[in-house]
Amino acid sequence: MKAKPVAHESVPKTLRSVSIIGTGSYLPKRVLTNADLAKVMDTTDEWITTRTGIKERHIAAADQATSDLAAEAARRALRQAGLAAEDLDMIIVATVTPDMFFPSTACFVQKAIGAGNAVCFDLEAACSGFLFALETARQYVGSGAITTALVIGADKLSAITDWEDRATCVLFGDGAGAAIIRSRPGVRGIIATAMASDGNLGHLLSMPGGGSRNPATAQTVKDRLHFLKMAGKEVFKYAVGSMLSVAKEALKKANMTMADVDCVIPHQANMRIIRAIGERLGSPMEKYYINLDRTGNMSAASIPVALDEAVRAGFIKHGAIVLMMAFGGGFTSGATLLEWRKPEPSQRVSAKDVSRVRVSNAQKRRFSTNASNLW
Ligand code: UT7
Repeated sequence: MKAKPVAHESVPKTLRSVSIIGTGSYLPKRVLTNADLAKVMDTTDEWITTRTGIKERHIAAADQATSDLAAEAARRALRQAGLAAEDLDMIIVATVTPDMFFPSTACFVQKAIGAGNAVCFDLEAACSGFLFALETARQYVGSGAITTALVIGADKLSAITDWEDRATCVLFGDGAGAAIIRSRPGVRGIIATAMASDGNLGHLLSMPGGGSRNPATAQTVKDRLHFLKMAGKEVFKYAVGSMLSVAKEALKKANMTMADVDCVIPHQANMRIIRAIGERLGSPMEKYYINLDRTGNMSAASIPVALDEAVRAGFIKHGAIVLMMAFGGGFTSGATLLEWRKPEPSQRVSAKDVSRVRVSNAQKRRFSTNASNLW
């Protein structure tokens, strides 16, 4: 089965334009360096740096779950957008490390930030999760079914990392990134998205234990099935090919070339993958925002954390065309092109703006009505 990217038109006839109006991110305090790892396993800073580009990663505290990281990123995004939690109509959390199977991590975030008007659910597309969730939310906001969505990519990969497998444990870290989206008339916002999946390759990157295929037993624990397993070399090849494919598809739909792109936010898995992509797309590394040296691969959190840092550092300027691209377990891949605009004061709404809360509730009712018409 050859995955064909599903591309979404650059100017959809049925959708209004949708923009990111605020971003936020959170990295846990504890930093684990390559030197720290070399003290406890058979590895070296030199091996990890030359093979991946990673120097250190953040590790969540034992009592910090994915929703704790996500809620902090959400609060920061709300502050940047000038919105209150009750302005949110929808929360989607992309993650492979939910707090529990259920309730959803998005529901935990809702409770933590007090987003009482939001419909909340999780989405699982591994490292492509944030871009898949962004596109899902865009469909709701773009259709007018809702006004405001919070999209989060959050993962506590340290919870599913096999610290006895040096081939994988040096690669990953924990973190969360968030984006708030709304329609902004006259602003292009998200220009085009391309997404693809190839279920035939799922076995190359998976966590086999704990689900309905291998429910948790003493034996599954003994067999270390509750840890992430990866065939690194095969994943590497897929990563380069699939990200190129979705990036080209998104550019095509937008009638753009790489020359039109000012900044690239790639999935932060491996510097060698990013360089290979840059070479094949013919775009210089100066356009790429890189933080994997400080964060490692944080799965669904990698892109939104990098996006937030790049915006706050001024790497992404007002009016810039940004290309985000990811690949991950499933397999999945996604690319999103957008025009970045700073949030404008006129868009900001006070938490005490009663009329806004009323609009939000009305939207929620409309959303329920539309949904009930489906069955
Ligand atoms: O979000 C999706 C995430 N996944 C990825 O992006 C991963 C994509 N794959 C990769 O990034 C690379 O395949 C890795 C970084 C995981 C591995 O790099 P590689 O160049 O493919 O190395 P390898 O797996 O072929 O291993 C080469 C050698 C082996 O030793 P021998 O058999 O040649 O003697 C490994 O045992 O390196 C050894 N090795 C290590 N040595 C020191 C594996 N891990 C380590 C380590 N420290 N941590």
